[in-house]
Amino acid sequence: MSDAPDRELRISKIRDGTVIDHITGGQALNVLAILGIGGDEGMGVSIGMNVPSDKLGTKDVVKVEDRELSQGEVDVLSLLAPEATVNIVREFEVVEKKRVERPGRVVGLLTCPNHNCITNADEPVESAFEVVDDGVRCEFCGEIVREDIGDHLAVH
Ligand code: CTP
Ligand code: ZN
Repeated sequence: MSDAPDRELRISKIRDGTVIDHITGGQALNVLAILGIGGDEGMGVSIGMNVPSDKLGTKDVVKVEDRELSQGEVDVLSLLAPEATVNIVREFEVVEKKRVERPGRVVGLLTCPNHNCITNADEPVESAFEVVDDGVRCEFCGEIVREDIGDHLAVH
């Protein structure tokens, strides 16, 4: 099909930074929220949402310039995007490619949906969730978040 390339959205390669690839379609904005990127930090961010993928059908891609992600940040992404690959790019070359791994617990990044939970009272208590088979479980009240974990991100 001669006109196919015109229909493809191509995001530029980056010189230095992190490419998060194979993100579950539609989760790119939640990935940015986990990373604490709102756009006013001034770094270059490119987002592709629901782009065609051989492996996943459709996927999201996030490219963050001049920032390399820590293992902890990467692992939390696994809750939203278990298939994600994290590529560290230096001088235009991929120098490291990591798969995300499910962490054992997630501290400070999620809010508990139970309004009576101590983490939602005006107390100096940081949220903590244990990662269980079917989601994440609040260590304070036992509430389990199974779906839409991205809706329970603590605002940075
Ligand atoms: N990438 C980029 N800028 C660079 C190098 C790579 O934005 N300077 C992006 C590519 O567009 C791709 C991702 O980083 O989305 C991984 O690059 P690469 O490992 O070269 O691609 P693949 O071999 O297709 O990776 P995979 O097998 O993980 O799909
Ligand atoms: Zn709770």
